[in-house]
Amino acid sequence: MAVRIAPSILSADFAKLGEEIRAIDAAGADWIHVDVMDGHFVPNITIGPGVIKALRPHTAKPFDVHLMIAPVDPMLQAFADAGADCISVHPESGPHLHRTLQTIKGLGKRAGVVLNPATPVESIDYVMDLIDLVLVMSVNPGFGGQKFIESQLGKIAELRKRIDASGRAIDLEVDGGIDRETAPRAIAAGADALVAGTATFTGGPGQYAANIAALRGG
Ligand code: DX5
Ligand code: ZN
Repeated sequence: MAVRIAPSILSADFAKLGEEIRAIDAAGADWIHVDVMDGHFVPNITIGPGVIKALRPHTAKPFDVHLMIAPVDPMLQAFADAGADCISVHPESGPHLHRTLQTIKGLGKRAGVVLNPATPVESIDYVMDLIDLVLVMSVNPGFGGQKFIESQLGKIAELRKRIDASGRAIDLEVDGGIDRETAPRAIAAGADALVAGTATFTGGPGQYAANIAALRGG
């Protein structure tokens, strides 16, 4: 499968998010990656459901919503209603991952699990039947522009084996420090979707199409 590119709007100009989303849509983004941070689960605060709702009319591309908030369960309905297509959660963001994933599926959304750099692949062993996506953090969550953590390549390869063995159509996405040098290595390890904040938005709108194409290897 061709790799999907999900620009993270964390690196966009927050003063003109609608315009930025239209620009990355036109530049070939497959998904729009939305990083939601609460200043508690991670040391940064970004955007909430109200902003996602306001952005929804600006593109028909799927909203790939990465929730870095705890507790996460009370907010799932709001993000579903705001227009998320895929909702991904960290196992550490609530005491009952299985129930959280059931809730997301019950809201009619795709469900993802996000593994922090220190979180083992075994965290998803008993929820494989509920998930549509695994997101491997190749940086510690909270900020854009960090350096890719090399040890995560082995985790990606291990997850690729497990997903293939499951026979289920589970996307394997990587988030953090993805650029022209790390993208091909993440793909070679087994990733089929890449989040890219800095690497998408560097150089301004005139560069977005070339930046996205470069991550695909073209
Ligand atoms: C980090 C976020 C990432 C971040 C990636 O907590 O989950 O999506 O925006 O940024 P870059 O691509 O700049 O490493
Ligand atoms: Zn993210």
